[in-house]
Amino acid sequence: MIAPSKKFKNPRAQHNFQGRTCSIIGVGSYLPSRVLTNLELEKLVDTSDEWITSRTGIKERRIAADDEFTSDLASKAALKALENAGVSPEQVDLIINATITPDFLFPSTACLVQRKINARKAAAFDIEAACSGFIFGLEIGQQFIMSRTYDTVLVIGAEKLSTIIDWNDRNTCVLFGDGAGAAVLQNRPQAHGLLTACMGSDGHKADLLSMPGGGSRCPATADSVSQRLHFLRMDGKETFKNAVNAMYTAAQEALRRCELDISQIKCVIPHQANRRIIDAVAERLGVNNEQVFVNLHKYGNTSAASVAIALDEAVQQGCINRGDLVLLVVFGAGLTWGAAVIEW
Ligand code: ACO
Repeated sequence: MIAPSKKFKNPRAQHNFQGRTCSIIGVGSYLPSRVLTNLELEKLVDTSDEWITSRTGIKERRIAADDEFTSDLASKAALKALENAGVSPEQVDLIINATITPDFLFPSTACLVQRKINARKAAAFDIEAACSGFIFGLEIGQQFIMSRTYDTVLVIGAEKLSTIIDWNDRNTCVLFGDGAGAAVLQNRPQAHGLLTACMGSDGHKADLLSMPGGGSRCPATADSVSQRLHFLRMDGKETFKNAVNAMYTAAQEALRRCELDISQIKCVIPHQANRRIIDAVAERLGVNNEQVFVNLHKYGNTSAASVAIALDEAVQQGCINRGDLVLLVVFGAGLTWGAAVIEW
């Protein structure tokens, strides 16, 4: 799974290395206003509120408007994060946008965000690590800050998953929603910060969760559209098992790197895919329900946006206060997984 870090003798030193500290100085999120409830889904496919709630914990999800795109969701979340951080768009050195539903294959959604928020001096690029994208973005952003390349990095997770959902497939259409979350990272000596972020992948299991059409292997044709290849596909049961194992292992690795015990963590923010996955990971980690932040009943699985939105809501709701230790843990297609520890 994840190889232990050999970079620092004391893993906590990663947080404050040669006078540099990578702090999360502001977070923000944006959810589209349209709410799609389980009761409405009952009219679309052969499902029930009871099945969805008992199997996943999801009650409703948000759906972006026809003229509202991933770059719009991302820009709104980014502007809120920048406002909360007290940083202007002109100060941003780098924009990293994690998404599996970019506006276009190219140019990157990050570049569209740069234009929308007018972050003129920023370099901008997208990353694709599915539901793990936000943690991958934090790790990449941290590396740029600790290496003195940049001082201010905007990390965004944004998705318009409703565009790649097969609304005739009850196995998947009940699970996902649209939304965006963002964080501003900055070098702030002596400040609290991102203690560690770790990532892992297993491409041998790439087929468990994928969208077959639309890439260079299967470009869009009348045939590919009629075969419904441009929609997300998932082996739910296998994904479930892999998610529990990978999230547990990633969380343990992040704690080990920081020389922390789970009992020292104030709040665990897991990827919001399925309540039963969250409960199974929490049980294996030995944390109680009060320590675990859950909002998937309102938004479903928003992939790369999931933990970014949850982090913002946890802060807004006062679940996290200055100095608290927070553990983020994610899992997604690829397969990919990761975890991060933040001293808030
Ligand atoms: N309503 C009613 N019945 C349904 C529905 C539905 N919406 N969906 C599936 N069913 C049926 C199935 O057809 C199956 O029926 P059958 O036995 O007659 O074939 C039955 O319910 C049981 O299906 P299971 O697959 O056993 O249900 P399970 O308990 O595994 O739950 C679920 C399915 C919710 C998808 C679960 O497996 C899961 O959450 N998997 C993980 C998803 C995840 O974590 N994704 C994260 C990454 S996402 C990303 O990276 C983009």
